[in-house]
Amino acid sequence: MPQGLLNKKEARDENVKPMSYRRGRHHFIAAAMRAPFKIGGFLPSSKALARAMASGVDLHKPGAVVELGAGTGVVTHALLQAGVKPDNLVVIERDEKLHALISNHFSHLNILCADAIELDKVLAGIGVTRVSAVVSSLPFLVMPKEVRNAIQQQMAKVIGQDGVIIQFTYGPKSPITITQMRKNHLHGKRHKLVVANVPPAHVWVYKRV
Ligand SMILES: C[S@@+](CC[C@H](N)C(=O)[O-])C[C@H]1O[C@@H](n2cnc3c(N)ncnc32)[C@H](O)[C@@H]1O
Repeated sequence: MPQGLLNKKEARDENVKPMSYRRGRHHFIAAAMRAPFKIGGFLPSSKALARAMASGVDLHKPGAVVELGAGTGVVTHALLQAGVKPDNLVVIERDEKLHALISNHFSHLNILCADAIELDKVLAGIGVTRVSAVVSSLPFLVMPKEVRNAIQQQMAKVIGQDGVIIQFTYGPKSPITITQMRKNHLHGKRHKLVVANVPPAHVWVYKRV
């Protein structure tokens, strides 16, 4: 197709509006009240943080972009806005109600209700063999250490040699510890500090050493 011309599906993707912040916040707070330690926050990320996450994705790299912990879809929307093709985006959210909400909102996307701890199996199940970026909002700070380590191992496994992991944290330190970076052959860098978020957040990007 000549550049600049959109087919019907792409045209529709460009027009998908973000869920209103108010509506998203309402659903997010309800989810956090149900299971605070599983959701890991009481407010959805700001647009500024979502954009900072999306800016770590290299659109020219082959492979799927995998979003983990989509919540009410703020980062999902930023990824689409940044140019990630809907067909190339896989979204994973474990909470059933949030999953139903975003599946309804982004009805054209591949949104799975699954646990990131089974990431390699989940991706194999839908035929994804190459991943260019894992974009994660998973709440590592409130997870038991063993679960966090197991998920980070999965993330490192699926990116192969060339992919990246993009992760935000409210903490001052790397959300993947030096021990886990060494174990998983990763190198991490602080990509952005987003002071406009409540609370301020750091975005980290990890690559294979
Ligand atoms: C801090 S919220 C971030 C939501 C959204 N991306 C944002 O930035 O506003 C974390 C999300 O990760 C989801 N989550 C937590 N643990 C998960 C897991 N093991 N697998 C998949 N999703 C998970 C939660 O249900 C929640 O929606």
